[in-house]
Amino acid sequence: MKGLLLAGGTGSRLRPLTYTGAKQLIPVANRPILFYAMDAMVEAGITDIGVIVGDTRDEVMQALGDGQSFGAHITYIPQSAPLGLAHAVKSAREFLGNDPFLMFLGDNLLRGGLRTLADRFRSGDYAASILLTAVDDPRQFGVAVLDEDRVVRLVEKPAEPPSHWALVGAYCFAPVIHQAIDQLQPSWRGEYEITDAIQSLIDWRLNVDSTRVEGWWKDTGRPEDVLEANRLILEDLATSVQGTIDEDSRVTGRVVIEEGAVIVRSDIRGPVTIAAGAVIEDSYIGPYTAVGPQVVIRRTEIENSVVLADSTIEDIEERIDQSLIGRGVTVHGGSRRPRGLRLVLGDQSRIEV
Ligand code: TTP
Repeated sequence: MKGLLLAGGTGSRLRPLTYTGAKQLIPVANRPILFYAMDAMVEAGITDIGVIVGDTRDEVMQALGDGQSFGAHITYIPQSAPLGLAHAVKSAREFLGNDPFLMFLGDNLLRGGLRTLADRFRSGDYAASILLTAVDDPRQFGVAVLDEDRVVRLVEKPAEPPSHWALVGAYCFAPVIHQAIDQLQPSWRGEYEITDAIQSLIDWRLNVDSTRVEGWWKDTGRPEDVLEANRLILEDLATSVQGTIDEDSRVTGRVVIEEGAVIVRSDIRGPVTIAAGAVIEDSYIGPYTAVGPQVVIRRTEIENSVVLADSTIEDIEERIDQSLIGRGVTVHGGSRRPRGLRLVLGDQSRIEV
């Protein structure tokens, strides 16, 4: 079985971060989201992987390379425009050939991995197998109606959901899916929808199977999702301290402090991960925080936050909480009088003061 990993798209809900980078490469617990997806594919026994790329292709290609570091072989597949998940499959037609394949969205995270889905699909005679999770409000999702594990109907974003089983971003397909995709029309939002193609398989009375998510699933489409994903991954953090911690600092709980990170007169309360080259001085780094490489934090308290590489945060009086801070950002408190805010913010920045 081949793999198809989707790393194109627009990422509009994660602007401004996605103006300068791929959303799939935003790190959670200091590791790009896309790397967890690669691991999940390989762990499910899938090593021949096509990666769909769009405008951010250079950055994605540089991050994943030829796939060898994950134990995989990657073929990059450009998608002319982000016209939907079914369009991504169509773009990969040559790579996929007549093989069955597992498609996974590169901005999704699954605690339980992809192995159960892949193994079930391999063990039966299915046209497709989809992954489902129970959600409280299914109105924003594709929703499946089931007869045992068999899918009998799919409805996209229903006003009155017929079940609480939402489709999450992992699917297995037999090559018959290409026929279903070939006859698709764009949906009301102008995209070629994979749910419409799967519904065609059901209409053709082919077998569409489903598997339930084990553990948690997280789509990282919005900033609050990235913070939640960071929290979930940090829950499983194993302690490793390679960096330098001075005598006046206190480190408690599960922490990763990478080699070259320096902690001075600070209080670090895990789960926290601090990347190589970061400098933390006279600060408090609280639970569920990921500090990226070469970040400098001085005289500041921060928790439940993600700070990307090369940013500097200094002299902030109030505690920073639930914040997602991009690359190379400067946040400076200062004590100039009269007190006030001086802001230099890029387009579509969001701050709460
Ligand atoms: P989405 O999150 O549905 O779309 P998006 O990336 O355009 O984001 P936004 O809605 O915030 O603008 O996409 C899910 C995943 O699939 C994501 O990793 C991007 C990828 N994708 C493609 O590779 N090609 C596509 O045509 C689409 C729609 C998504």
